[in-house]
Parts: sequence; C-alpha cells; structure tokens
Amino acid sequence: MNIGIDLGTTNTLACYVNDAGGISKIEFANGRNENKCLLPSCISVDDDGNILVGQPALDRKINAPETVLENTKYFMGKDKSWTMGRMCIDAEKAAEYILTEVYNELSGQFPNEKSFNAFVTVPARFDSQIPRMATKDALKRAGFEVNEKNALTDEPISAAVAYSTYLSGGDTLLVVDIGGGTFDLSLIHSKIVGNSAAADRLIPIGWDGDLFLGGNTVDEIILNLMCTQIIDEEECDLSAPPNDMRYSGEQSAAAAMLRNYIEPIKKQLYSDSDEDAEVYIDELLPDYDFDFTLSRRDYENAMQETAQKMRDIIKRLYSRNAVEMNRTSKVLVVGGMAHEYCLVKILEEFFGRDKILIPDDSMYLVARGAAICNSNASIHVDNVAYTSIGVLIKSRTDVDTIIREGDVIDENFSAEREYSTVNKNAWEINITVVEYKGEFSVSSYTTLMSKVISLKKGFFVKHRTLKFSFGFTEDKILKIIVTQYDGTQTELDVRL
Ligand SMILES: Nc1ncnc2c1ncn2[C@@H]1O[C@H](COP(=O)(O)OP(=O)(O)OP(=O)(O)O)[C@@H](O)[C@H]1O
Ligand SMILES: [Mg+2]
Repeated sequence: MNIGIDLGTTNTLACYVNDAGGISKIEFANGRNENKCLLPSCISVDDDGNILVGQPALDRKINAPETVLENTKYFMGKDKSWTMGRMCIDAEKAAEYILTEVYNELSGQFPNEKSFNAFVTVPARFDSQIPRMATKDALKRAGFEVNEKNALTDEPISAAVAYSTYLSGGDTLLVVDIGGGTFDLSLIHSKIVGNSAAADRLIPIGWDGDLFLGGNTVDEIILNLMCTQIIDEEECDLSAPPNDMRYSGEQSAAAAMLRNYIEPIKKQLYSDSDEDAEVYIDELLPDYDFDFTLSRRDYENAMQETAQKMRDIIKRLYSRNAVEMNRTSKVLVVGGMAHEYCLVKILEEFFGRDKILIPDDSMYLVARGAAICNSNASIHVDNVAYTSIGVLIKSRTDVDTIIREGDVIDENFSAEREYSTVNKNAWEINITVVEYKGEFSVSSYTTLMSKVISLKKGFFVKHRTLKFSFGFTEDKILKIIVTQYDGTQTELDVRL
C-alpha cells in the first residue's frame, strides 16, 4: 500500500489514493482531540518507560512537562539531543517514534496489507542532504518500505501536485507553506504535455524560506504580550517553559495553561470578523484572573519584524530567480497558519487579492500531494536547476560552469574536472561552488559552499592536481567527489 506522509513540526498527516482514485486521510487513534487526522508531532515517556505519541503525549504537558518533546524537526540530522524523562533522544529518533505510530495505525487499519511504502515531504529549506537522509532513515526504522529514487519531495511542491488539477499550461504558481515551524516557498511553472485538460508537468523554478518562521514564532510573540500583562498586574513572569525549575507547582501549571490559549487567540485573529481576540482565564494564579484582549492593530505592531522577514523572503525569491512578481498567475497558501493576518496582507499587497487561494483543506494539501506522488498519477515534477552552478578556483572572476540554469538534473548527470593549485608552492586548493542567474558576473553570484582541500604532498606536478567529479543524488543534492593522486577521496555535498 502506498502512503504519503507530511511529517510536520507540529502535526503529522498521512493520506493514500483510494480504489476510486480519490484521496483518503488516515484518522489516528492518538490524533488531536479536535481533529483525528492530525497526529501531534509530540512524544512523551510515561513512568513505566512506555513511549506515548500524539494527543496522549500532548496531554502530559500540564502535569509532566519534563517528559514531553515537540518541535524537533528543525534539528533533523543535527548533532542535538534532548532529555525526555530519563531518556536522551535526537530529532531522528523522535521522527522514528512518530512514524512508528503512523505505521502501527496503518497496520491496525489495513491488516491485509503486506507492506506500506512511504513517500514523505520535507521543507524546501532542508538545505543539505543530511536531514533528508535522516528523514528517510527514520521512515525505514519505523518499518516502512522506501523507494530510494522516489521517497521525498519538498512540502510546497507536494502541495502544488495536489493542486495541479486546477492549473493549466503556462501558469506560474507561488506556493507559500506556513506551518508550525517553517515558512517555505516554491515558485513553479505548469505545463500540459499530454492530452490532459489540466497541468500534467510541474517545473520548479525557485525556492526560498526560513526554517524558523511559522506558528511557533507567532506563538512566542503572543505569549510575550500575555506575559508582559501578567508581570504588570501580578509581578509574576510566566515566560519560561512550564518545566523551568524556578517555578512553584502553581506557576508551572499556570505557564502550561497559558500556552493552551495561544491557538484560540490565533483562530480569533485570523477569522473573518474584525473583533479583538479575547481570553479570560479564571484563577490562572491563586486569586488572579487573567483577562486579555488583543486587537489586530496591536498584533500587527508586535509582528512587524516577522512580517518584514516574510516580505523580504518573498522578494528575494523573485529577484534571485529573475521572475517579475506580476507574472504570478496564482498564489497557493497552505499549512495551519495559511490565514495568518500579516502574511495575507503582504500577499494581497504584492499580488492582488484575486490571485490568492487558501483552500479549505489547506492543512492537508501537502499530505495529499505526497499520496499522489506515491501513486501512479500522471503528473510529472521536473528536477531542474534553479540557477547555473559553477566553480571558482583561481579567482573571483573566473567561473567554470558545471550546470546551466534550466538544465534537468538527475542521477544521470555527471561532469569531471581537474583543478590544480594556483601557485606552484601551494599544497591546497580552495574550491568555491557558486550559483548565479543569467550571465556570471562578479557582483551577481551567491556562494553555496567554499572549502579548502589540502593536497597530499608529492614530488611531481601531477601531485598538485585534484580530480573532481560532479553528480546528483535522487534528492537533488550535488555530490562532489574529490580524488587525490593516491586515490584518497573526499565527498562534498551541495543542496540546490
Ligand atoms: N485554525 C487555525 N487558526 C490559526 N492557527 C492555526 C489553526 N490551525 C492550526 N494553526 C496553527 O498552525 C500551526 C500548525 O500548522 P501545520 O500543521 O501546518 O504545521 P506543520 O506542518 O506541523 O509544520 P511545518 O510545516 O512547519 O513543519 C500551529 O502553529 C497551529 O497553532
Ligand atoms: Mg507543514
């Protein structure tokens, strides 16, 4: 059985293409109380050492916050771990537990299926091969089958796949995915190649975003406003996480309870009504009721810096890819934060209200696309180079172009080069991989990677030369293998 999984910072979803050709969503026994299709990407460990995933883990945030772990996805493949009760785990292990929960749910619901083949989405901003590989490894360890060549795609691209039946040939689509953790953008051209009525080929032309900009950023901003009022009124600072050792039991419970009111505030602010968001918490602290009102204007003021970041990222996406904003046919906004007030205003300002689409199922689109990518659907997504890629060896002006902008890149691509040291007494080569749009010029490139490689010393001229072979993995990672004269190899990775 083929499954598409959106492994989110906050929520994990799974979908599959059903026998009727439609897409079904999996409901999880441990899904959110208010929506069983959303499995909270949250884990915990109980007193007996049992791992809890989803809503039961989330429930422990009030009474046993030190045993709860969430928001780990940012650190996928990174050297970081957390304590959870008496356990110590990293983001890959956390993902494995969440994916195991998905796997067990599927096995329970489909006992006749022999295996589950998974296709999973990752942020376009996972800009190294490492978190992508870590995601695949977590899938395998959770029990899923993985097709190495077709196992993952970028979240916004997946949303575009799910939306492709509404696209025609020649559209330029901007996808903005704003979830709990990440602000993720893709710019995509659509084409009709076969005789279908809708787009059947998607050509990604650019990506951009911020791994640390999303619902969590906004939550911090709202929490900060709430805490400022509580400090003023009650001289108690609840801004530290609920498990902070300095809290009394009552303060710790108050800190946890306060956080439960953030999402309702966001829901009020992003609704169609113009009313202020209001929260009243009876006895938040002994003899203290918390009465909080947030107007859209105050919210906007607090969001200024974050809104400016979003604005700059959108502009940068267009300028880096030399696309005029007015060429955009549609802007598809997906993710739990799709109705975020400041973002919607920015998009309306840039593109006009008519082009902005926030589908009702905006929270599911990424998982739906993943299910389609993992079926035999006739939609093809090109792996194209968004920019030209070259190498600077001798100077900042002399580029050796390896890949041209618009070239299709896949595992068949290969290029070989030999580079020598710049001066004859040197025993190192500085390789700088750059990207650029249009013609290369000293002022128009961006450095993707720069590395000094030491040569093994030898007597002959050939000892001052290194062989470089360039190739791509199935995940669009440029892999550079550097070979020394004695055959020793070093691998360098560059995400495009
Ligand atoms: N109706 C709503 N109104 C406002 N905010 C919402 C609503 N529903 C969900 N959210 C917020 O959306 C965020 C979760 O969105 P989503 O499930 O798309 O994230 P994710 O996919 O897990 O994260 P990411 O894509 O960044 O890895 C949370 O910050 C949550 O509070
Ligand atoms: Mg998401």
